[in-house]
Amino acid sequence: MGIFSGKEVVLGVTGGIAAYKACEIVRELRKESANVQVILTQSGAQFITPLTLQTLSKNPVVMDMFNLISESEIGHISLAQRAHLLLIAPATANVIGKIRGGIADDMLSTVVMATTAPVLIAPAMNTQMYASAAVQENLAVLKSRGFHFVEPGEGELACGTVGPGRLADVGKILEMARNLLTEKPLAGKKVVVSAGPTAEPLDPVRYVSNRSSGKMGFAMARAACRMGAQVTLVSGPTALPDPPFLATVRVRTAEEMFSAVSRAAEDADVVVMCAAVADFKAKKSASVKIKKEDFDYRLELSPTVDILETLGKKKGKRVLVGFAAETDDLARNAREKMRRKNLDAIVANDVSRADIGFESDDNEVRVFFPDGEIRELPLATKDGIAVGVWLALNGKLFRR
Ligand code: C5P
Repeated sequence: MGIFSGKEVVLGVTGGIAAYKACEIVRELRKESANVQVILTQSGAQFITPLTLQTLSKNPVVMDMFNLISESEIGHISLAQRAHLLLIAPATANVIGKIRGGIADDMLSTVVMATTAPVLIAPAMNTQMYASAAVQENLAVLKSRGFHFVEPGEGELACGTVGPGRLADVGKILEMARNLLTEKPLAGKKVVVSAGPTAEPLDPVRYVSNRSSGKMGFAMARAACRMGAQVTLVSGPTALPDPPFLATVRVRTAEEMFSAVSRAAEDADVVVMCAAVADFKAKKSASVKIKKEDFDYRLELSPTVDILETLGKKKGKRVLVGFAAETDDLARNAREKMRRKNLDAIVANDVSRADIGFESDDNEVRVFFPDGEIRELPLATKDGIAVGVWLALNGKLFRR
């Protein structure tokens, strides 16, 4: 069950070259189970055909206000009322000006005026147009009226100029849409999430690490952000890009993770350690590359700092949550860690199973609490599991 499941998203596509990117937006929304209703403006149809958007959205594309058949089936008031979210991507200077000015002379501008759903606008236009006094003033007024925006990116535009004006990344637009459709049980909470492995150097080119992909921690951070928390994500080396709308701190070693997490934890309400922190590091990392002829090289290890255990010793009002990746005796090991590290909850998963755990997109976990309560979260995407973990923590820990 995705965030968009059971949701009606009305997507307005207006006349800019970025209109072709609306195809990807429709596909992603559909993939996450939204019902997508596209409204294409006349100038939008100069860039992309209604047939393309209709095929991808699996719904008739609405263009005409005064078509008797479509008005009776999907009229402007019905579209405006059914929408859980109205997304305009790309939004031209023209449609932004019309919305600001209260003009309703086509289907899209009329639906915008008639809806009570949140309206998310992703502007895309030439840099000079974007910088113009008229557009900037219109944007400021619309923001003050509660319209939501995904700011355009910078780069080379189709017209050849370089600067702001390019439609924001589709991933960022979708994340903002998810944000707007998620309830905010974590509003006002400051959350720190750690993710990924750490890498402990042996010499300038080699290191000791583990198979953690960071996917679960990133999902925990994204979910907390959508649920209204102010999130700092502290990540070890992963292939994942920084998630939008939250602060990401990149580290490599357990020592660096300890400093970054401790700093962020100072005024945090919750610390969730999802990272697979290395338990050992080289006692001494060589300053030059170890040669293969160095037959007598012996790797000597020393333990790394246990971040959670250290935080657990002077916990204050902070809620501390650990993750336990186990290959055997899951419940006993998880409970023992929760007790030893003075945690408020521990999320345990069985990483010996190929279908869940490390590199997988899915997971299945059990959340243990010190009073003996256990919440089982059955197999789901890591995003789904993250929402389930936060809801379990919220129901149990944050309402005291
Ligand atoms: O003891 P173990 O490593 O299995 O405990 C797992 C939990 O402790 C995870 O939440 C992990 O992020 C955290 N941890 C830590 N510092 C370490 C090792 C693990 O905070 N050095």
